[in-house]
Amino acid sequence: MRPASVTVRAPGKVNLHLGVGALNDDGYHDVHNVLQAVSIYDELTAGAPAEPGAITMSLAGEGADTLPIDAGNLVIRAAQLIATKAGVQDGVHVAVRKSIPVMAGMAGGSADGAGALVACDAFWGTGLSRHALEALAAELGSDVPFALTGGTALGTGRGERLTPILSRGSYSWVFALDDSGLSTPAVYAELDRYRAELPRPALSSTDALLTALGQGDPVALGRALANDLQIPALRLRPKLSRVLAAGRELGALGAVVSGSGPTCAFLARDPSEAVELASALAGEGVCRTVISASGPVPGVRISQP
Ligand code: C5P
Repeated sequence: MRPASVTVRAPGKVNLHLGVGALNDDGYHDVHNVLQAVSIYDELTAGAPAEPGAITMSLAGEGADTLPIDAGNLVIRAAQLIATKAGVQDGVHVAVRKSIPVMAGMAGGSADGAGALVACDAFWGTGLSRHALEALAAELGSDVPFALTGGTALGTGRGERLTPILSRGSYSWVFALDDSGLSTPAVYAELDRYRAELPRPALSSTDALLTALGQGDPVALGRALANDLQIPALRLRPKLSRVLAAGRELGALGAVVSGSGPTCAFLARDPSEAVELASALAGEGVCRTVISASGPVPGVRISQP
């Protein structure tokens, strides 16, 4: 029997190393993207639609009023993809409660796309294989497969080809959020602009980072954090350099713009230092708000009823 509704939660992420290579003809860059899923979750509930056959969604929570609820949202596209693939005509309504900040470089949109795939598959009982869900996730966006899988992984190609990474221990993060978002394509475009004069870029090595993760060494991990999108994000949002400097001065083991920004991520030695860092950073008044989280955490999971 079909469940009345299915609720899942989908994690955000932080990029530990985002190396960006050449721009390809398809408009995407080659990347070496080491991602860690963190304990900030959007919650999605798939249930019956108001009108039979309709695919609809609603949004609540952090930044909800700034997002589309049509096919401009990955939730709707994910549901449509599954319906087409599995020949489902019943429709669904997906209610999303957002906690992952919007357009913040923490892959909230990708998390919602991945969450909608799992929620709709379970609600409709389509029983798609993990492999089939991963293929649909890659169609939706470069970071969507990672949101399904979670943990710590290296994404290559445009980011969608994932290899799990051995990571020991749990890491304590503090995130400084800005007032408004940054568009991922705009940040990549700014990278292309400032690199126009440079020779073809080479992808930087992830060796130091992978060693730090394998050893569970937060000090070495803090030193190895790297992001090729940081310079273009700072060019578009210069005040972020003050945020990064404030976190470093307050003793963060590492400070980096998360993905395409504008969120800045700070690594703390342990959960209690993260609490101290978060409150000190909030006191500096350099950002809208500060949140703490830990990683790695698993990818999309169905919540227990
Ligand atoms: O795959 P996704 O739709 O999330 O990508 C959003 C945008 O980010 C792309 O349209 C592209 O401008 C940029 N992008 C890129 N290279 C990548 C991933 C994303 O240029 N590897």
